[in-house]
Amino acid sequence: MSIHKTVRRITTHVLQEMKLNGEKIAMLTAYDYSFARILDEAEIDIILVGDSASNVMAGYETTLPITLDNMIYHAASVVRGVKRALVVVDLPFGTYQGNSKEALSSSIRIMKETGAHAVKLEGGREIVESVERILSAGIPVMGHLGLTPQSIFKFGTYVVRAREEEEARKLLEDAALLEKTGCFAIVLEKIPAKLAGEVTMSLKIPVIGIGAGPKTDGQVLVLHDMLGITQEFSPRFLRRYHNLYAEIKGAVQTYIQDVRNQEFPNEKEQY
Ligand code: KIV
Repeated sequence: MSIHKTVRRITTHVLQEMKLNGEKIAMLTAYDYSFARILDEAEIDIILVGDSASNVMAGYETTLPITLDNMIYHAASVVRGVKRALVVVDLPFGTYQGNSKEALSSSIRIMKETGAHAVKLEGGREIVESVERILSAGIPVMGHLGLTPQSIFKFGTYVVRAREEEEARKLLEDAALLEKTGCFAIVLEKIPAKLAGEVTMSLKIPVIGIGAGPKTDGQVLVLHDMLGITQEFSPRFLRRYHNLYAEIKGAVQTYIQDVRNQEFPNEKEQY
């Protein structure tokens, strides 16, 4: 029997058992109550309240502008819709880098004010002190390596990371360090599939990939991308499971016509 079918709640321990058992982990982002409820009822394992909210909810070009207060608002809304999934919240840019005390106080605010179960931070050795301090308060931490969008102005481009040997070696070392420090899982974003496979094999904790090939322990996508609500973002790794943009637009156009033609509301749709 699959482990995820036998549990009422997904915990970090359940995820660990799923890795040991060779069961793939399914993770998606969500930013509000209504979508979180649908994902949870569909039995998603992890909901990430990603700072991609900065792009898909707020319309910013990068993930940098979103604030801790914004993230707390989204995360609290998500948690109200969830009974089963593990809810992980991104620490936004500027709330943990280079200041482990601030990292801890940001994480404590997230845990207290949202009811979420864990936080996610981008980076390797440079954020280890923050990871340690957050863990010291009993807050589970998920790591994030590879293409870390909060560093986009350092990278200068959204191309695949760690193609070169030196960056690949650093990534392998950072992944091992994050595991040793106590992270319960790691996201690998947009790196070669072979390297992602090596990292996954070398770690005991679950590795979740986005644009990192099939060998990771699980996969994550941004909900609005996989549902086809966003249109302009089309990386090779993105599979669109729906074209909700067109469906929603069509429904809205039909409604507008009905209102204009006085076909809505009809006799049954009134008191
Ligand atoms: O913010 C986000 O949605 C993420 C995923 C892409 C992993 O970090």
